[in-house]
Amino acid sequence: MPAARPRRLHLNAFLMNAGHHDAAWRHPLTQPDRLTDLGYFQHLARTAERGKLDSIFFADGLALWGKVKHNALGGFEPLTLLSALATVTQRIGLIATVSTTFNEPFHTARKFASLDHLSGGRAGWNIVTSGTVDEARNFGQDEHLEHGLRYERAREFVEVATKLWDSWEDDAVLLDRVRGVYADTGKVRPIDHRGEHFAVRGPLNVQRSPQGYPLLVQAGSSEDGKEFAAQYAEAVFTAQQTLADGQAFYKDVKNRAARHGRREDDLKILPGICPVIGSTEAEARALEQELTDLQVPEYGLAQLSGMLGTDLTGLPLDGPLPALPEERDINGNKSRFTLVAELARRDGLTLRELIARLGG
Ligand SMILES: Cc1cc2nc3c(=O)[nH]c(=O)nc-3n(C[C@H](O)[C@H](O)[C@H](O)COP(=O)(O)O)c2cc1C
Repeated sequence: MPAARPRRLHLNAFLMNAGHHDAAWRHPLTQPDRLTDLGYFQHLARTAERGKLDSIFFADGLALWGKVKHNALGGFEPLTLLSALATVTQRIGLIATVSTTFNEPFHTARKFASLDHLSGGRAGWNIVTSGTVDEARNFGQDEHLEHGLRYERAREFVEVATKLWDSWEDDAVLLDRVRGVYADTGKVRPIDHRGEHFAVRGPLNVQRSPQGYPLLVQAGSSEDGKEFAAQYAEAVFTAQQTLADGQAFYKDVKNRAARHGRREDDLKILPGICPVIGSTEAEARALEQELTDLQVPEYGLAQLSGMLGTDLTGLPLDGPLPALPEERDINGNKSRFTLVAELARRDGLTLRELIARLGG
């Protein structure tokens, strides 16, 4: 019998300001005063690289998320930060979040090609469609584009970006000083894209990058999100709360990928965990409790209201959740809505308990 191929676990660090937990910034072990200090992130990136992680990842939103009154928010734009981190690391992957709803494919393709050159082929793109109306309101819109249309735009966006990256062939640059020919223009071609959402002539104004394309990552788990991931993503971030839900998601996305003619291995699933670490379990549990005790209920309620599309202000913290809408009525982040609603229902949590569980 042929030996089974060794399976590899891929590890990615999701770096977030003072820490992932919403009360992390209040804990004496964190450094919330260093959110705009490059040295802080350089240290984190180097630590992750030394620990042999595959990649570091920065989330992003195009509005000030959450309540800055109660959390350390307002840090760097990810592509800018990763360009700086590329210079102090050698091997680790650098994944930036960029929205397809509030950008143009030409800008985005250009920036990722640049990061890929700057990092020697380590760029990755977390493709998001953006979940909040607060973001729409920073771009001249009163309402958020409808969920299905956001994914439609995202598909065309990725198609255009891909064509732009392909608009330079690998060997397009001739650098023939003797004949005075820099590039073979037969290998740098316009893309002449005319679609529903974009018209882009091309070619890209950045030469083909070491990877050709950045690693394509996706994180939406709605029906549209999973279909999108199955078609385009090489890695999927996800956050199921039980083993059974995680296994069902894994199977579902892999089956969809097969329907798009892709192999199982073309797509990696990266479920998220928020570890609380101590030298012993008791120490870790004590730290977890310290973090819970530092949570500001008003902040937790506001976050939860956003995730559930339901205003929870003023409700008793030790009571249950009120009646919630259905996923189909949510125009924001559908999968996060369902995950939270199911978590509360399954474990019969009060608002206070739910806020504690979601802190990380
Ligand atoms: C680990 C993880 C990281 C995410 N990071 C971002 C992010 O940085 N920016 C963002 O707008 N959405 C982010 N999301 C949300 C998704 O990208 C997606 O927009 C959201 O789930 C809505 O899609 P859906 O309705 O298909 O689930 C993240 C989700 C997960 C699970």
